[in-house]
Amino acid sequence: MSVIAKEVLLNAFNMNCVGHIHHGMWTHPQDRSTEFNQLGYWTELAQLLERGLFDGLFIADILGVYDVYQQNIALTARESIQLPVNDPLLLVSAMAGVTQHLGFGITANLSYEAPYPFARRLSTLDHLTQGRIGWNIVTGYLDSAARAMGLNEQIGHDRRYDQADEFLDVAYQLWEGSWEDDAVLADRQRRIYADAHKIHKVTHRGEFYQVEGYHLSSPSPQRTPLLFQAGSSARGIQFAARHAECTFVNHATPAAGGQAAYRSGGGRPPATGFESVYGGRRYRCANRRRGAGQIP
Ligand SMILES: Cc1cc2nc3c(=O)[nH]c(=O)nc-3n(C[C@H](O)[C@H](O)[C@H](O)COP(=O)(O)O)c2cc1C
Repeated sequence: MSVIAKEVLLNAFNMNCVGHIHHGMWTHPQDRSTEFNQLGYWTELAQLLERGLFDGLFIADILGVYDVYQQNIALTARESIQLPVNDPLLLVSAMAGVTQHLGFGITANLSYEAPYPFARRLSTLDHLTQGRIGWNIVTGYLDSAARAMGLNEQIGHDRRYDQADEFLDVAYQLWEGSWEDDAVLADRQRRIYADAHKIHKVTHRGEFYQVEGYHLSSPSPQRTPLLFQAGSSARGIQFAARHAECTFVNHATPAAGGQAAYRSGGGRPPATGFESVYGGRRYRCANRRRGAGQIP
């Protein structure tokens, strides 16, 4: 029987808050997650992961608070259950500045974002990380977020995925279709920074978004960042099949996980398969290739 060599990628999991999903662990004398407000906590973590040959750091996020239990936030606040929680995107530049290979998978809820400025934020991070940014696409699950954003409740489950499909359509146009590869000349002699003929206006008239404009960033290393998705409903899997390069699945065995990832990828082969499964093509695995066998 021949043995097929498979590559396992290592992805650390965290959140810009106390304890992520290990509720109560912050009380352990050696737990440092209460330092999440300090940049040094994140830059040290990034350096530690890079030294340990991790491929990526994934940062979860939520918008809104857990206020359903007893209809208040008393327990949420006392136990620090993802409250307080800071913006994960803002951590990336600092961590990228002290690492060279580590990838960053950042969660952002698109339901309350506008595609035009959001696409620029990710392009900016793609430039600053030199192509090490990924986006975990979520549509949210908290009515508290909807109320904070001026709605009475969240829009319906499947409808959120419809909106997400259109958000991605706009973002792809901005990332991929606005600037040609050679639009930037930076020609000092002729005093031409960019060739306007190679910068195209994106015009989108949709159900959720109306956009007419030029992408604000010049082409970044990846253009479209690596896309993660974690939904497991029928509509979520359909969405993942269309967009995601890395999907999260949770199955009893690696084989079952791999099959689920294969299905959710619309038949695209996953790179590996167990609890968290990636079907990714670009997430930086250069880190361990670079240092295999040389862990300091
Ligand atoms: C491993 C994993 C990580 C997730 N991370 C987040 C997150 O950081 N933020 C968030 O709002 N939802 C997160 N989710 C929730 C999913 O995005 C999604 O809302 C949920 O799985 C329900 O989607 P579905 O109804 O399509 O199954 C995560 C889910 C899983 C399984």
